[in-house]
Amino acid sequence: MDLKLHYYGHPVLRQRTQRVEVFDDELKAFGEAMISKMYEANGIGLAAPQVGVSMRVCVAVQMQDQEDTGAEPLVLVNPEILERSKDTWVLEEGCLSIPGLLGDVQRPETIRVRYQDTSGETHEIEATGMYARVLQHEIDHLDGRLFIDYFSIARKSLIKGKLREISQLNNA
Ligand code: CO
Repeated sequence: MDLKLHYYGHPVLRQRTQRVEVFDDELKAFGEAMISKMYEANGIGLAAPQVGVSMRVCVAVQMQDQEDTGAEPLVLVNPEILERSKDTWVLEEGCLSIPGLLGDVQRPETIRVRYQDTSGETHEIEATGMYARVLQHEIDHLDGRLFIDYFSIARKSLIKGKLREISQLNNA
């Protein structure tokens, strides 16, 4: 499966994704391909819309902290955030679909997430710190939301030119 990254400006990144109803070998293969693509692009998470597929699937490295990039990857099907902690923290984020652009995002520190694995089995996990941040970033993608949406109006206007440049990557 040859997956191609889609960049800011492509409409698929703003669509709300479809829930997965069929748990077959094709879904397993797609999950594996997403993990390969994430590593190929040196990412720590990737959501299906970023490879042009409007399905509620994402992958993430289950990292304990920012240095823990060697942790096991996980495929999350139909993930939903059930709870968010009141405590928040700020960290600079980036996105494979918005290359070259970084920015601070404030997010809840701990979340509870329900998801299905590629066999359709339901799991509930509590994630904290870096892992919780990655999951929130990826689940945002599944709802058509990007990390730059959290920027201030002033910062948004500053990055307009850069975003226009990035959107051209879709035509490359
Ligand atoms: Co992203």
